[in-house]
Amino acid sequence: MIKLINVYKEFPRSGLALKNVSFHLRKGEFAFLTGPSGAGKTTVLQVIHMAERPTDGEVRVSGFSSRRIRRRDIPKLRRRVGMVFQNFRLLRDRTTAENLAFALEVTGARRSEIKGKVQRLLAQVGLAARAGAYPEELSGGEQQRIAIARALIHDPVVLLADEPMGNLDERAARSVFELIRDINASGTAVLMATHDLDLVRRYSQYRVIELTEGAIVYDSGNSDGVP
Ligand SMILES: Nc1ncnc2c1ncn2[C@@H]1O[C@H](COP(=O)(O)OP(=O)(O)OP(=O)(O)O)[C@@H](O)[C@H]1O
Ligand SMILES: [Mg+2]
Repeated sequence: MIKLINVYKEFPRSGLALKNVSFHLRKGEFAFLTGPSGAGKTTVLQVIHMAERPTDGEVRVSGFSSRRIRRRDIPKLRRRVGMVFQNFRLLRDRTTAENLAFALEVTGARRSEIKGKVQRLLAQVGLAARAGAYPEELSGGEQQRIAIARALIHDPVVLLADEPMGNLDERAARSVFELIRDINASGTAVLMATHDLDLVRRYSQYRVIELTEGAIVYDSGNSDGVP
């Protein structure tokens, strides 16, 4: 479903951010992407989201290839791939409900459809009561739930989450993680970047892909001969 094949990414001044990265994330799978700061976790998520193109190698995402995709097809790809960014990136001048509705409006969805979907998503992330609140009126954990709801708006096949609990206290972090597990349990694959090794150890049933200096140094779920 998501396949990275010998992916290299070079940035002009910082050199190689990814070195020969290959892995296959299957339908419905849950994987942690771990490694120290600067290891390339965010870059991996960005090449999957096709915000960055590999310098060499190929990324395949649900029928799209980084080698062949046209610029105008990228929005289509992004409907298949939900992304939660390292900082929430909510629109500050829009309420919670409007932040979610906006993501649907740009695709030309009908108003009645938007309303129902926004309500469903708010309920799913436990924030039905905060539909009219602005991002600055929400706690960090609540903002992250909204960012997650927004990533789910097009029913993606995979949720990419970049340090989704990074700025949260322990309790908020736990409940955001439970939400992400629920999303996975309902069939959405999850690739979650984290440097929280305690969390990774605690959930040892999940796959771990570990990066160091842009290269995969460990992959607990590599079973299809990818080096
Ligand atoms: N847009 C960019 N331009 C230049 N260099 C970049 C860019 N994005 C990332 N890099 C470099 O690529 C390397 C990997 O960065 P990346 O953000 O993927 O690491 P990370 O594992 O997500 O780190 P962190 O845990 O701090 O978020 C770093 O050396 C970084 O400086
Ligand atoms: Mg990062």
